Amino acid sequence: MIMVTGATGTVGREVVNLLVAGGAKVAAVTRDPAATAFPDGARAVAGDPSRPQSLTPALDGVEALLLSPRAVGGATSELLRLAAEHGVRRVVVLSAVTVEYGGGYRRFAREFELVEAATRASGLRWTFLRCADFTANALAWAPQIRRTGVASGAYGDAATSPIHERDVAAVAVRALLDPAHDGRAYAITGPQSLTQHDKARLIGEAVGRELRFEEIPPERLRQLMLAQGLPEDVPDRLIGYAAACLEQPGPTTDSVARLLGRPALTFADWAAEHADVFRELSPS
Ligand SMILES: NC(=O)c1ccc[n+]([C@@H]2O[C@H](COP(=O)([O-])OP(=O)(O)OC[C@H]3O[C@@H](n4cnc5c(N)ncnc54)[C@H](OP(=O)(O)O)[C@@H]3O)[C@@H](O)[C@H]2O)c1
Repeated sequence: MIMVTGATGTVGREVVNLLVAGGAKVAAVTRDPAATAFPDGARAVAGDPSRPQSLTPALDGVEALLLSPRAVGGATSELLRLAAEHGVRRVVVLSAVTVEYGGGYRRFAREFELVEAATRASGLRWTFLRCADFTANALAWAPQIRRTGVASGAYGDAATSPIHERDVAAVAVRALLDPAHDGRAYAITGPQSLTQHDKARLIGEAVGRELRFEEIPPERLRQLMLAQGLPEDVPDRLIGYAAACLEQPGPTTDSVARLLGRPALTFADWAAEHADVFRELSPS
């Protein structure tokens, strides 16, 4: 049995789907099982990974755990101690490239470093997936693009190599199922370095509409993101990382292609899959 924390999240959902499709038994953790339908074959586990005791009843029989730092909060050590006591052998951590390459506000890199350190100290076998920014982060532009055809952001020339969440999930599944990845830390990114202007243009191509990226002051962007209901820390994470990537583009690695034996998915692939989210609402 594989336990997935953050199972309702951008990556967690895809991990659950891939594991079930491959015939694995899955315990999918969420704080609110009534709000989510998991695929047949996945068992919903009601619990909060940031309060690890809430997962105790579900840990028996689990061999490997996907650890989502957002879901686990500051409870990595306690969760992994409990997991080890219940016979869990391996953990795969959704970490971030900032740990290896720097960039962004130091406090956010530090959070991931602490999770990795606690994992190393847990005695479990581990794999760290140090992820680039997720393509899905561009969903933050969707309401504005639908309304105005403009994507506002700070630091338009900041370049990163965003990774498709399905690729993160596919690599995570390999690591969860195959002990050959034990003790390995992979920096995983998308295949292309793209500025924010490039990302807006590629979404426009997918939607069939010319989209403009408009640079706005970071503080104004922060307020817009908070007004959209994004969690308090997200604007600082994204804006701080963009500021750093203006000076030094985010890394591009070929790890996804090497690990999966196929090319990494592109931002254009993601935009085509999500074009409807960015389309103007037709007047009713
Ligand atoms: N976005 C990026 O660019 C990026 C880059 C590198 C690494 N990461 C890391 O990758 C991981 C997965 O990202 P994601 O975008 O898939 O995650 P996500 O969608 O933001 O969240 C995953 C799940 O965690 C649970 N959760 C959220 N806040 C929580 C809280 N305060 N306490 C307890 N549970 C909470 C929620 O599940 P329920 O509500 O169902 O309980 C949520 O669906 C995260 O840990 C993130 O830090 C992200």
